[in-house]
This record gives sequence, C-alpha cells and structure tokens, in this order.
Amino acid sequence: MAGQQKPIGDQAVPEFLYGTAWKEEKTQSLVEQALGQGFRGIDTANQRKHYVEQAVGRGIAAAVAAKVVRREQLFIQTKYTFQRGQDHRLPYDPKLPISDQVWQSFRSSLEHLQTDYLDSLILHGPSSRNGLLDNDWAAWRGMEAVHGSGRVRFLGISNVALPQLKLLCDKASVKPRFVQNRCYASTGWDREIRQYCLAHDIVYQGFSLLTANQKYLRHPKILDIGKSHGMSISQTIFRFAMDARMIPLTGTSSREHMAHDLLAHDFRLSEAEVAAIETVALNA
Ligand SMILES: NC(=O)c1ccc[n+]([C@@H]2O[C@H](COP(=O)([O-])OP(=O)(O)OC[C@H]3O[C@@H](n4cnc5c(N)ncnc54)[C@H](OP(=O)(O)O)[C@@H]3O)[C@@H](O)[C@H]2O)c1
Repeated sequence: MAGQQKPIGDQAVPEFLYGTAWKEEKTQSLVEQALGQGFRGIDTANQRKHYVEQAVGRGIAAAVAAKVVRREQLFIQTKYTFQRGQDHRLPYDPKLPISDQVWQSFRSSLEHLQTDYLDSLILHGPSSRNGLLDNDWAAWRGMEAVHGSGRVRFLGISNVALPQLKLLCDKASVKPRFVQNRCYASTGWDREIRQYCLAHDIVYQGFSLLTANQKYLRHPKILDIGKSHGMSISQTIFRFAMDARMIPLTGTSSREHMAHDLLAHDFRLSEAEVAAIETVALNA
C-alpha cells in the first residue's frame, strides 16, 4: 500500500521517498505523477545545478489543488548546499556569513516549495571528507536556528562519514534525525553508519540503491529471494532497504517504475533474507 509511515519520535515519516534530482523540465509533472501514484515523501535540494526546487513546489501545489493530497500528509525535505556544490545559480549571497546563507536558502526553499514549514532540512554534505570544519559548524548552527524558529521539523546530514556523524552527534544542540547517504552493497549497505543511526535515533535514508550496486543486483541470492516473493530485483532491493530499517529513495522518471517500486510496500523479507542481502557483496 502506498504512503506507509515510519514513526520517528512522535511523528510519522513515509517509508519511501521520491527523489527529484536531474528532472529539469520534467520535474513538475514527475512530482505530480509521484504524488498521484501514492508517494508521500519528496526529497529535493535548493541546488539548481541538479534540482529545480521551484518546479517541485509547483508539482506539489498542483497535487494539493487537485485534492490528491493535503500538505500535512506530505513529508517535504530539502537541503542547504555549500557554494562549492552549486553552479552560478545560488539561492543565497555567498558573501554573507554561512549561517545567514542557510537562512536565505531556507527562506527561498519555502517560497519555491509554496509552504510555510519544511519537514526536514538536510546539510547536503560536510565541506571536507575528514572532520567537521568551521563552515560545517556555522551551517549546522544556522540550521539549528532555523529549527528553533519552529518552521522545520527535523534536521539531517547527507554524504557523511561515520567519524563526522559521531562528531556532529556529540556537539550539536539539535541532533541530526536523518542521514542521507549513497548506499553501497560493498560496504554492507553502509552498515556501520546504519548501526550507529539505529543506536542514536537517526533514520538512515539510502540513495543510489540500484545505480551504485549494478554489479551485485543479479547475484543469485537476490534473484532467488525476489523470485520466492514474486518480486523484481528493484522491488526486492527497495523492500530489503525498508526491512533493514532504511528509508529508500527512488528517482525514477517512469510512471511504470513508480507504481512498480511502490509495490515494495506489499511484502516483507524474513530476517534471514535481509541478512543474506546485507552481506551479498561482502561474501562475493
Ligand atoms: N544527497 C545527495 O547528495 C544525493 C545524491 C544523489 C541522489 N540523491 C537523491 O536520491 C534520489 C534518487 O537518486 P538515485 O541516485 O538513487 O538514482 P535515481 O535517480 O533513482 O535513478 C535510478 C535509475 O535506475 C533506473 N531504474 C530502472 N528500473 C527502476 C525502477 N524499478 N525503479 C527506479 N529506478 C529504476 C532509472 O530509470 P527510469 O527513470 O527509467 O526508471 C534511473 O535511471 C535523487 O532524485 C535525489 O533526490 C541525493
């Protein structure tokens, strides 16, 4: 069934997110389609280089106007992106201090998304691979201030390594409630970070589940498990993600794949099946 929810604290978050990267002029219609098919969580970013946040907002507004969904039934997540991850189309003045950039980016996201609150605001990625630098802390403090305004429910971080996540959790006043990472089967599907997340009340969101793992998707174990449930490889991987307590993202541009992916809600894997897929690349 579409639109199933995972409890986080006392609030519910959809178990599956529709991602809006790289859709350009098709963004609005794909968001409308995704909501029409039953997705209730939308992931975007105020990063024009890869996303058209304004068109995401138009898609949501059209679905709300058509009474497909009400705003309060939706989980809308966007990101603050440092200048280094942007092109010339910045949603803030880069000469401002980072925490002011966060506010400008956030306000412009509200405008683009035609909403007065966000469900989740994500730091798109730390500014370096190692540790957290001053800019990262300035961004997080800015995000904490936005959270304090009551206009964003949860904060999160993306593209993060375990030592960075631990540092953030140790020193943040408002702890991250989401991690959004590219999920590689070769690392046990980011197992160490997922375990840390589970122990610290953080929900792990996995992207590139299909595209980053082409080498392993046709592994006999995955094929056999899928076959035994009458499900395809992609449905098996998305179901595995949910049963491993992740929130998967799909950014499909195909109406058929949207419907197909949502069927992952309709079955469950056993613990043994989850363990077999979790270790598929470790034992390969
Ligand atoms: N935080 C970050 O830095 C970051 C980075 C990358 C992505 N993301 C988020 O994650 C979302 C998803 O991105 P992704 O990297 O996972 O890739 P994706 O955009 O979901 O791409 C999936 C690819 O697999 C194909 N595919 C074939 N069968 C499919 C099926 N049944 N279901 C879905 N796809 C199928 C799709 O083709 P069809 O279109 O023909 O289905 C597409 O080419 C993005 O839109 C974005 O919101 C975040």
